[in-house]
Amino acid sequence: MKLLLAPMEGLLDFVLRDVLTRVGGADRCVSEFIRVTGSLLPDKVFLRTMPELRNGSRTLAGVPVRAQLLGSDPDSMAANAANLARLGPEGIDLNFGCPAKVVNRHGGGAALLQDPAQIARVVAAVRAAVPAAMPVSAKMRLGFHDSGLMRECAQAMEQGGACEIVVHARTKLDGYRPPAYWELIPRVREAVAVPVIANGEIWTVEDALRCREQSGCGDLMLGRGIVADPGLALAIRAAVQGAEPGAGQHAVAWPELIPQVQRFWEMVCEDLEPRQRAGRLKQWLNLLRRRYPQAELAYQELRTQTDQRDITRWVAALAGREEWRGL
Ligand SMILES: Cc1cc2nc3c(=O)[nH]c(=O)nc-3n(C[C@H](O)[C@H](O)[C@H](O)COP(=O)(O)O)c2cc1C
Repeated sequence: MKLLLAPMEGLLDFVLRDVLTRVGGADRCVSEFIRVTGSLLPDKVFLRTMPELRNGSRTLAGVPVRAQLLGSDPDSMAANAANLARLGPEGIDLNFGCPAKVVNRHGGGAALLQDPAQIARVVAAVRAAVPAAMPVSAKMRLGFHDSGLMRECAQAMEQGGACEIVVHARTKLDGYRPPAYWELIPRVREAVAVPVIANGEIWTVEDALRCREQSGCGDLMLGRGIVADPGLALAIRAAVQGAEPGAGQHAVAWPELIPQVQRFWEMVCEDLEPRQRAGRLKQWLNLLRRRYPQAELAYQELRTQTDQRDITRWVAALAGREEWRGL
């Protein structure tokens, strides 16, 4: 079973990739999308989104990271992919799922799901532009307005030369609203010979097991669920390997997570702009509180704080807190 970390622009960046791959259980990450319009992007754009390129395309914990490109023009995607390839990414993933208006207006992301022929041209152009040994994969939604073309889109990706397809089991119209339609994924799987990986709305071990069953996919991609519960990949592995029911349900207890929260804050302060820092910590705690009552308490305390020094003192004191014990 392969478990991948989802690309999530503005959320699962190199800081959180570092922290989550330290916790363990993930086989590979995908960078947030790098948008290709007309121009040739300078190396610094690739390196900013994916600093792991300076580390052999791996997180410090050693987990490979694939770079994701988003765009609709085959020539410009090919030229940028060729430049990116020189920086040595583990592979290149192509985004056919982004629902953002500004991206779709220019024909990129999920908008391409209305035009399988153009998908095939984009994938083929990128495939031809990078070394044969470098994997080129794709990530799609079920469709734009509906799932009518999902098989054709997956086939276009395969024809273009994609070696693997992640299916986020919702249309662009569905946005991020539950449910995810895992039960439609078998129809995509049957349409192509390349491996298909299921994604969407996997928050717990039970979700993961049901998703594997309904989609028929052994491999999963985890998004918001693993940000909310960093032990999720480890817990899924334990469950799939047949641990006692309930074992590994919460693979990482709060006290073990505290050093990761501290590392996260340290990295955020070192690497991100001052105006982003407090917001990033609040954003993570906001998701963590879905799974950890202690994170709810922490989030409420932090909510109104903005001063970096105050937050640094607060983060440093997290481990010694008595209030956590009863929770
Ligand atoms: C904040 C946010 C940013 C995202 N950015 C990207 C992205 O850059 N590239 C991409 O292919 N998908 C992106 N996605 C979609 C996720 O990779 C994933 O397909 C989606 O969140 C469903 O998985 P989940 O329900 O496990 O979160 C993003 C999702 C969110 C919530």
